[in-house]
Amino acid sequence: MIVHLSAFLYTSVQIAEKGRRNTMSEITLKNVSKIYENQQYAVRNVNLEIQDKEFVILVGPSGCGKSTTLRMIAGLEDISDGELYIDGEFSNYCEPKDREMSMVFQNYALYPNMTVYGNLAYALKIRKVPKDEIKKRVHEVAKILEIEHLLDRKPSALSGGQKQRVAMGSAIIRKPKVFLMDEPLSNLDAKLRTQMRIELAKLHREMETTIIYVTHDQTEAMTLGTKIVVMKDGFVQQVAPPAEIYNNPANLFVAGFIGAPSMNFFEAWVAVEEGRTLLYLGGNELGKKVYLDGKKGEILQRQKNGEKVILGIRPEDIYEYEEAKRRGFEKNSVGLEEKVIARELLGAEVVLYFQAQGRNQAVRLNPENETKRGENINLYFDTEKLYAFDMDTQENLFYKEDFTHE
Ligand SMILES: Nc1ncnc2c1ncn2[C@@H]1O[C@H](COP(=O)(O)OP(=O)(O)OP(=O)(O)O)[C@@H](O)[C@H]1O
Ligand SMILES: [Mg+2]
Repeated sequence: MIVHLSAFLYTSVQIAEKGRRNTMSEITLKNVSKIYENQQYAVRNVNLEIQDKEFVILVGPSGCGKSTTLRMIAGLEDISDGELYIDGEFSNYCEPKDREMSMVFQNYALYPNMTVYGNLAYALKIRKVPKDEIKKRVHEVAKILEIEHLLDRKPSALSGGQKQRVAMGSAIIRKPKVFLMDEPLSNLDAKLRTQMRIELAKLHREMETTIIYVTHDQTEAMTLGTKIVVMKDGFVQQVAPPAEIYNNPANLFVAGFIGAPSMNFFEAWVAVEEGRTLLYLGGNELGKKVYLDGKKGEILQRQKNGEKVILGIRPEDIYEYEEAKRRGFEKNSVGLEEKVIARELLGAEVVLYFQAQGRNQAVRLNPENETKRGENINLYFDTEKLYAFDMDTQENLFYKEDFTHE
C-alpha cells in the first residue's frame, strides 16, 4: 500500500513538471458531499474557494471530515455529490496523477527498500535532474528537516517523527503546484514542531505554492494560514482569515474551538435599566450583573430584551479589580468573586481557573499575580470584548456588526 501511494505521488510530479511555470492553482468546491458506504455523511455541502498561493488550514474536531475533504481534492476519494473545479475546470473525474498535487499523509508514504537519500532523491531522479543538482537539493532539504545524519538509513530504522520529516522532505523537494498536507507535524516534539512551522511558512513564501493543510494545532492554524476553514460534523462553520476567525467567530462552536484556553461562556438574562442594557449572569446569582453600552448593548436591547443569551469572554479580556479600575471599566462590571481552583504559571502569563455556572472558566493574568489555589479573586470583564450568542441557533449576535473589514 505504501509503495502504491508513493508511486502515485511520484508519477504526479512528472506531470506537474510539464506546464508548471506561470500556471495557476485555484481550487473550488461547490456543494461537495461525501457519503461512505455506511450511508453516513462525512462531508456535507462544502463550498470553498481556494485562490492561487493561499495557505488554507482545515481545522475541527476528530472525525469532522478534514481528511475526507483533502482526499477528495487529491482525487483519492470519489465525490458523492457536488463539483470540484481546478483552475476553473470541472475535475470530479480527473485522475489523481493529473491533478498536479502532492500530498503528505498522516501516515507516511516511503519506499521501504530505499535509504532516506534514495527516498528524497527518487522524484528528481525520474525527472532526470542532473546528479549534482539532486545531491545539492537532497542536502538542502535534509538540512532544513534535520535529517542529514539519517540519509543512509532505511525507513524501518527511523522513528515516527523522523519518517514524517522524510515524507515531508520528499514532497518539498519536488516543488509541486499544490501541497495537500494532513497533519504533517503531528508526530514531532514541541521544539521540532515550532521549527518546522517556521520552515513551512518560509517555504510557502519562497515556493509560492498553494497549500491546503489539516491540523489540530491552534498555533499552526493561527500562524500559518492565510485562511482558516473550521469544520464540524462534516459542515463548514466559517471560512475567514485567522484574525477574523478569532475576533469575529460566526457561532458558539467556532468561538469555543479557536483559542486556548477556550473562550468562557455564561448564560445571562438581558434586561434594560434606565435605558442601559444590563446582563444578569446566571439564574441564582442575580447579584452578578454587567452593563453593556454602545452598539453591542443596543443590539441585545433590541433583539433579546427579557430573554436569555450565552455570553462569551476570552480569558485575556477578564481583569482583576486594580487593573480593571486602571483601564476604567470596573463600574460596568460587578466583580465576580470566584475561588481559584487551579493555577498554571506559563512563564509570560498565569492562567487561573474558576468554576461558574457549572463550567471551568479561565482568566489570563500578568504572572506577577500571586493568587493561589483556594483563594478568592475579584474579576471584571472588559465589556467591549464581550460576545453574545443566540440560545437556540448559537449564532454570534454581534457577527459582522462587530468586525471592521479593512
Ligand atoms: N473509509 C471510510 N468508510 C466509512 N466512514 C469513513 C471512512 N473514512 C472516514 N469515515 C468517517 O467519515 C468521517 C470523517 O472522517 P475524516 O477522516 O475525514 O475525519 P478527520 O476530520 O480527518 O478526523 P481526524 O482529525 O480524526 O483525522 C468520520 O466519521 C469517519 O469515521
Ligand atoms: Mg484526519
